[in-house]
Amino acid sequence: MAWNTLDDMELNGKRVLVRVDINVPLDNGRVTDDTRIQRIVPTLRDIMAAGGRPVILAHFGRPKGQHVPEMSLGQLAEPLAAATGKPVLFCADCRGHAAEAAIEAQDDNQIVLLENTRFYPGEEKNDPELAAEFAKLGDIYCNDAFSAAHRAHASTEGVARLLPSCAGRLMQAELRALESALGTPERPVAAVVGGAKVSTKLDLLGNLVSKVDMLVIGGGMANTFLAANGIDVGKSLCEHDMADTAREIAAKAAEAGCEILLPRDVVVAREFKAGAKNRTCGVEDVEADEMILDAGPETVAHVAMALERAKTLIWNGPLGAFEIAPFDAATNAAAQQAAELTRAGTLISVAGGGDTVAALNHAGAGEDFTYISTAGGAFLEWMEGKELPGVAALTRPA
Ligand code: 3PG
Ligand code: MG
Repeated sequence: MAWNTLDDMELNGKRVLVRVDINVPLDNGRVTDDTRIQRIVPTLRDIMAAGGRPVILAHFGRPKGQHVPEMSLGQLAEPLAAATGKPVLFCADCRGHAAEAAIEAQDDNQIVLLENTRFYPGEEKNDPELAAEFAKLGDIYCNDAFSAAHRAHASTEGVARLLPSCAGRLMQAELRALESALGTPERPVAAVVGGAKVSTKLDLLGNLVSKVDMLVIGGGMANTFLAANGIDVGKSLCEHDMADTAREIAAKAAEAGCEILLPRDVVVAREFKAGAKNRTCGVEDVEADEMILDAGPETVAHVAMALERAKTLIWNGPLGAFEIAPFDAATNAAAQQAAELTRAGTLISVAGGGDTVAALNHAGAGEDFTYISTAGGAFLEWMEGKELPGVAALTRPA
């Protein structure tokens, strides 16, 4: 698949409609993590350096087609101006006369930020009329919102088909990193997949076993696999009704030559709380009133051997209840080892999705990974092997 990038477009004097994802966490109107804002700066900078005028399209939250003042993108104009060092003109509509007038008034040195696209129901319905209204606002469409690319919306999919389109710098970086992890990776490839439930990651596990050489399963979903093997996991989080599915995934892995690494020893407690009294035991020795909250040291050593052997690592989800100490130990140890191997140049490490980034940062390992995706759901869908509509719409005919 091939995409145009900004380098393929004639940007001078053009209005460039840039779809970004600045769906950042806010606390009382204050941005608490501006990663997504920082990561779109290169795209805006490069468009302006080439003489183009960026007009930003974005969603915020889930207003469900209603005008919800708390979800106005107006509150991000200042953080965006601070990040780019450019004046940001906010327009309280993303279509129609107001938007056209804002763009009319835009100077070369300014960025126009349009209001939340999800204030219109047509956005999520991928309404062709709304897409056509967006298309009127630009000469070129640039999609830099990989983390919203799993949505076939008017501003991510529909409009891409109406204008000359290209991928922005962040989109390019995300696609490059993902390609190096699962597309044409250096082998062996290890995947670490954790999280609470097998049921939410079925497609993901099913796809991974046919792509990776070693699959480390951690978190609550490991309990489901253990239980499917006849192990009594006591009061642990476990989906007993998924036992057949877990066995099918294991069989598919064996057929594909993918080694599944399950916990061998575990840290158990009778309460789910920080500092809860706990003990470490073999997976066979969990008492009926105990719950598994982390993988044990023998498991960590086993995972360490897999990571030593791997040339590529893809990571999604924590290995234990990392939010509460001391049940963050296995996640911390594996994340820190992956970071070290990456620093040493022997491992390509890519991570993303859900609370993965929080877990890696908690371990102090996030900075050293080769690539950390800004995406949650889009990263997961991509790991499931699904086509992302926002990416597919950028594909250039061969
Ligand atoms: C995200 O924050 O994951 C993206 O902005 C997509 O948001 P959505 O899940 O509301 O579509
Ligand atoms: Mg989401």
